[in-house]
Amino acid sequence: MSVGTDGAPAGAGGAAPQRIPFNRPTLQGRELEYVRSAVEHGHTSAEGPFSTKAAGILREESGARDVLLTTSCTAALEMTALLLDVGPDDTVVVPSFGFVTTALAYARQGARILFCDIEEQTLGVDPDRLADLMDDTVRAVVPIHYAGVACDIEGIRAVLERWPRAELVEDNAHGLFGRYRGRPLGSFGRFATLSFHETKNFTCGEGGALLLNDDADVARAHVLYHKGTNRREFLLGQVDKYTWQDTGSSFGLSDILAAYLYAQLEERDQVLAKRRAAFERYSRALAPEADRLGYRLPCVPEDREPGYHMFYVLLPDRATRDRVLAEMHRGGVHATFHYVPLHSAPAGRRFSAREVACPVSDAVSGRLLRLPYYTDIGEAETDRVVECFLSALSA
Ligand SMILES: Cc1ncc(COP(=O)(O)O)c(C=O)c1O
Repeated sequence: MSVGTDGAPAGAGGAAPQRIPFNRPTLQGRELEYVRSAVEHGHTSAEGPFSTKAAGILREESGARDVLLTTSCTAALEMTALLLDVGPDDTVVVPSFGFVTTALAYARQGARILFCDIEEQTLGVDPDRLADLMDDTVRAVVPIHYAGVACDIEGIRAVLERWPRAELVEDNAHGLFGRYRGRPLGSFGRFATLSFHETKNFTCGEGGALLLNDDADVARAHVLYHKGTNRREFLLGQVDKYTWQDTGSSFGLSDILAAYLYAQLEERDQVLAKRRAAFERYSRALAPEADRLGYRLPCVPEDREPGYHMFYVLLPDRATRDRVLAEMHRGGVHATFHYVPLHSAPAGRRFSAREVACPVSDAVSGRLLRLPYYTDIGEAETDRVVECFLSALSA
């Protein structure tokens, strides 16, 4: 069943071709049944039965020591800032071509941000640029597996080996179930974060998760998660009342949303297969014209399996990208751009440790165009998107 993101009923309208949205969240299995069951069961706050099941899938698939479902990926990133006691004496490295809250989660704790440029192949943190930035104030390095394709994890880890104070936090908002050299994304950092926002492969409207890969973080993470209290010990019968112990906040995901999420995660093989098929249709249809028309398709190095989060095209320059976007919108196809570089954004400048140039981020931001891509996008839709893209580009 499909739910229009723009409020328009699917198939409405006269002879005009139906608009193709950028994203269309869909039911994949037993979402509504489980939501009803969560309500009827009565435990609708965090850490109910569906939260346990959903976190269980994530733990088994990633090998994490523990998984906490959060209200968003942003909240999970904020938890990592608290767990690392990030403060005004620290700097945190994030890609400039990235999401605002990957930086903001640390900036709001008082840290200064160092913006790292990306490499052209995967659009992830460039280990050479990272090496240039490192010093002993760096407390965390937070790469993004852009579009669900792993960044150069080995290169990044080789740099971090020389800086033991700096912890690796994987912002894996895009890459759930992706792999790097056979190992799940999210299993490399001390922490990893996930997003279940409406636009992600697996969604519950708004949601996220924190993956803890070190046993030593588990007990404190539960205190922060429980609003700074030892409520978990109380629930386990280890103390007779719970009290304020530490910093923290209200990070937990409602079991109503966890029920929806669990139904989506149960269908992970089907979801990934559909997204992979759509990715391959786009690749097959667009590859033959790439050289002639001067665009580039996503690059997936042989040692990586993508999470199939998005399909983008890199056009020769910003003017062409903007023209093609406008033309596609006129044709009813909602393609879109992506991140505006953080290093030159007003708050990026305000929170940055020092000015850095990120020329690849600037160039990619101006050239990148994302095609409509969602789990239930059909062949007729991808064909029409390709036709609209090629005719806009050739115009
Ligand atoms: C790389 C990345 N990190 C973090 C986020 C924030 O996710 P959320 O909306 O779940 O807080 C996003 C959102 O799109 C993202 O793309």
